[in-house]
Amino acid sequence: MTHAPFEAPVGTQAVDAKDGVPRLKIDAGRCRQTLAISRRARPGQAGSDRAIATEEPTAAIAHEVGQPLTALLLHAEAGLRWLNRPTPVLEEVRQSLEAILSEGRRANEILKLIRASLARAPLRRETLTIPALVESAIAISRPAITSSEVDLHLDLGPTLPTIRGNAVQLQQLLVNLILNATQAMSGQKTCRRLTVSACQPDPDTLAIAVSDTGPGIAPESAECVFAPFFTTKRDGMGMGLAICRMAAEAHGGRIAVESLPGAGATFQLLLPLCAKAGSV
Ligand SMILES: Nc1ncnc2c1ncn2[C@@H]1O[C@H](COP(=O)(O)OP(=O)(O)OP(=O)(O)O)[C@@H](O)[C@H]1O
Ligand SMILES: [Mg+2]
Repeated sequence: MTHAPFEAPVGTQAVDAKDGVPRLKIDAGRCRQTLAISRRARPGQAGSDRAIATEEPTAAIAHEVGQPLTALLLHAEAGLRWLNRPTPVLEEVRQSLEAILSEGRRANEILKLIRASLARAPLRRETLTIPALVESAIAISRPAITSSEVDLHLDLGPTLPTIRGNAVQLQQLLVNLILNATQAMSGQKTCRRLTVSACQPDPDTLAIAVSDTGPGIAPESAECVFAPFFTTKRDGMGMGLAICRMAAEAHGGRIAVESLPGAGATFQLLLPLCAKAGSV
């Protein structure tokens, strides 16, 4: 599968050359929404720019560390249930303990990454293979994918190049996109299909796309989705896509979304294949 970089200006309706259907195309890098505007988009939560600037890192920590902690608690509860059975199922208990360990390590790695970022340390990079990166993000998101009864498809191509990147940060980026896609389709009666694909649209770029068959992005939300604190969900923090955008830019890349309202959204991460300054 090939998907060219999206190129329409922020929030415009661009007519797709292939089928003539108008789609929303939004590039996070060209999203000019300020924090204050995005915050005002959330009814009843207006705040000053200064307050929002202070809240943003705190919200990012709560968002990113909250995920593994929630998962860790669920695995601990499951482990106790297996242990408290009249005949404990030790194999299940062992698996729960392994999952607890893995989520605890993930939370720890995320905290290290945030500390390094606050200390303005250069991003630690390593050589990453795309299938392993995608599969690690899917493994973390698996409980949400399964509970929402989403049909998962992978299209990773046999000859993808490796990239130099921060495994934890890119993994979290993909987890945020996958969870958003899953949440967008959850409860939907019609087709719930999540596709994660990767390709090399040109010799210098690697693209990873997360597509869903949910309701898509509402035109009135289009300019705000990458802004911190913008959410249309009752329990959302509105930090997932803002964090994705920061992670993409920290890798010298960018993130964009293409959506056909009523028929799903495709978020695409574009990463340069040549190492940028600041890599370790
Ligand atoms: N796949 C998607 N389909 C439709 N709308 C989406 C999708 N992904 C994101 N959005 C829209 O963008 C908004 C912002 O997403 P973002 O991930 O930043 O925050 P959130 O999911 O609302 O909350 P959280 O901070 O807990 O992730 C969402 O509330 C939703 O309106
Ligand atoms: Mg989200």
